[in-house]
Amino acid sequence: MLGMDDARSGAVLKRLSAMVVPRYSLLLDQVLTNARVSAWIKRHAGIPTFRQREELFAFVHNEFIRDEPIDYLEFGVMHGESMRTWANLNRHPESRFFGFDTFNGLPEAWGWVAPAGAFSCDGRAPDIDDGRVSFVKGLFQESLPGFLQTFHPRSRLVIHHDADLYSATLYCLTMLHGLSVPGSLHFFDEFSSPLHEFRAIEDYCSSYRSRFRALGMTGNFAQQAAFLVE
Ligand SMILES: C[S@@+](CC[C@H](N)C(=O)[O-])C[C@H]1O[C@@H](n2cnc3c(N)ncnc32)[C@H](O)[C@@H]1O
Repeated sequence: MLGMDDARSGAVLKRLSAMVVPRYSLLLDQVLTNARVSAWIKRHAGIPTFRQREELFAFVHNEFIRDEPIDYLEFGVMHGESMRTWANLNRHPESRFFGFDTFNGLPEAWGWVAPAGAFSCDGRAPDIDDGRVSFVKGLFQESLPGFLQTFHPRSRLVIHHDADLYSATLYCLTMLHGLSVPGSLHFFDEFSSPLHEFRAIEDYCSSYRSRFRALGMTGNFAQQAAFLVE
């Protein structure tokens, strides 16, 4: 419990802060959180770094998955570029690839980067000629609970987060928490987006006390990063 003096100094600090920064500033929030992204990149300077996300995928696949089957869940599919890459990378006949998307674009704006509706495919899922690939159409917040009622993982879980948004990323991380056991792999396609994927990962890991070990990143200010659940 706070003592009287602590409570008084806490209130003084709050009043002072409100005088210095009277209104919320998205720019300030972004700049300050970006400092945590930079610190993260410095702390992880020794991990393998790649130019392209495909090289990061192949590295993790060759080091950790090799010739095993996987259960691959992708959140944010759009035209299916990364779904195709993963289905080509892992040819095991028992692997399963599930892609989640509304196919109508972002349900809300991604900060200043893209407005609501960006990345729309007019509701059409991509045509991927591979019997191991299937799509779950709808908002994750509406489709994932039903999917999880009947989904029983058979193989190592590989989760690819590519929805760009804080809300969607945090929602998927928390919903999949029970399945994300040690050995599961997570990929983030916009890892260093300060107020979105980066903040969602921080909030998830601190709330759920999850331990993610960084395995690799791409060199463009860690746009993409891969993690192993410990
Ligand atoms: C950047 S695109 C995905 C790109 C794709 N993985 C690739 O590599 O080409 C982001 C996608 O996330 C989807 N998305 C974002 N939030 C969503 C949500 N809450 N529910 C369903 N789809 C969502 C959008 O419809 C969009 O297609």
